[in-house]
Amino acid sequence: MPDRPPPHPSVEIRPITAEELHAWQRHVARSFGRAPNDEHVDRLLRPHMRYEDSLAAFDGGEMVATAHHEPAPITLPGGRVLDCVGVTRVGVATTHRRQGVLSAMMQHQLWQAHEQSNPLAALWASETPIYGRFGYGLATVHDAYSIDTRDAGFAWWAPDTEGSVRFLSATDAVEVMRPLFDVYATSRPGGMPRLPYRWHAYTEDSPDERGGASPMHYVAYTSPEGEREGYATYRLKSEWPDHIPAYRLTVDEMVALTPRASAALWRYLLSVDLVGVVEANDQPLDAALPWLLSDYRRLKRRPSDGLYLRILDPEVALTARTYPVADRLVLQLDDRLCPWADGRFALDAAPEGAHVARTDAVPDLLLRPAALGTLLLGTERASVLAAVGLIEERRPGALARADEMFRSTPAPHCLNHF
Ligand SMILES: CC(C)(COP(=O)(O)OP(=O)(O)OC[C@H]1O[C@@H](n2cnc3c(N)ncnc32)[C@H](O)[C@@H]1OP(=O)(O)O)[C@@H](O)C(=O)NCCC(=O)NCCS
Repeated sequence: MPDRPPPHPSVEIRPITAEELHAWQRHVARSFGRAPNDEHVDRLLRPHMRYEDSLAAFDGGEMVATAHHEPAPITLPGGRVLDCVGVTRVGVATTHRRQGVLSAMMQHQLWQAHEQSNPLAALWASETPIYGRFGYGLATVHDAYSIDTRDAGFAWWAPDTEGSVRFLSATDAVEVMRPLFDVYATSRPGGMPRLPYRWHAYTEDSPDERGGASPMHYVAYTSPEGEREGYATYRLKSEWPDHIPAYRLTVDEMVALTPRASAALWRYLLSVDLVGVVEANDQPLDAALPWLLSDYRRLKRRPSDGLYLRILDPEVALTARTYPVADRLVLQLDDRLCPWADGRFALDAAPEGAHVARTDAVPDLLLRPAALGTLLLGTERASVLAAVGLIEERRPGALARADEMFRSTPAPHCLNHF
């Protein structure tokens, strides 16, 4: 086993104890400018808390940074769901920022997750530039939509609504949404089921999370055969410029398992009375809405980075997905932060699965760790990653072969925020 990196010169990093949970979560709340809520912590987090997955940094006796990871199994191309940890609650006190505390904590956490035999780690970044240096690669991309409802006509080919869209009560919502969410999450690369305590927090619909908008509305789509095939959650914000209603409807989450569910939910959402603008974040890149509208141009779309993925065990991760074509590549990983993952791997890939083993053979491609996080789900082509400096081609033709091997459909997408 390689040596652990040297400790930070002025802070001690260790997991927290049960007595420190409130202070830890208050630190997290302060890092994100939120109000602390001890009651919430005791009711929702404490019963499930695994202290060995937590970290805090202390300067003397003072807690100055936090981090955590929780189970976040992830769907890979081909459908297998692989163990993964979801990194969350990362914050460094403003008094201690830019002194290498995050770097030391991330190092510590990579070792912690590796020693617990986790093959992957994932996270949502508050700011894009933070995590690439720690080997996290962009693994899902989504669109944010905005459309003026006056421009939201449907194309002549768009299916009419068959079946029905009906409200759910907040208390019934989880029971209906959760199984649909889980089917969706396991049908897409990047999909992750949501932990039970996060479902509770989600449907609790705390007034602190509403940003001046209405309580959450929950609607579900049922097919003519009586099958629940999708749902949407949204809030309304009242706006009356010049006494004319121009509410903002913000879709918080949408899951459509079938094309007719997608068409019916969009027809519903774009026709809610009093609404002037509909906004929806987190839409997959291959979503149907742009094609359902009569005027493709009227939908404003802004792509954004989503989930980031860090490969801790390249052999397990690369073996767990399937590949659209049969081929063989030798990948050299240059991984200084995770020395156990550094080295050369022969990937024998095929549509049925893959075999991966360490090798001394001449490498075809040299990869930075972040590149592998992106390639694993097929989020971007190897040749594009090479063009920006994340991959180096060592054997002519290897990039074009990697482009084919790592391709995946449907588009990677994750709705599980943690
Ligand atoms: C983001 C945050 C955790 C960084 O902590 P930190 O201890 O200041 O980070 P470090 O000192 O270890 O910085 C390591 C490197 O990352 C860079 N970096 C850190 N935060 C960055 C940011 N927000 N944007 C761009 N670069 C950043 C540093 O400049 C440094 O680069 P260098 O090695 O080239 O000098 C801290 O600013 C914070 O708590 N922010 C508010 C909460 C938050 O956004 N948390 C992350 C949730 S995903």
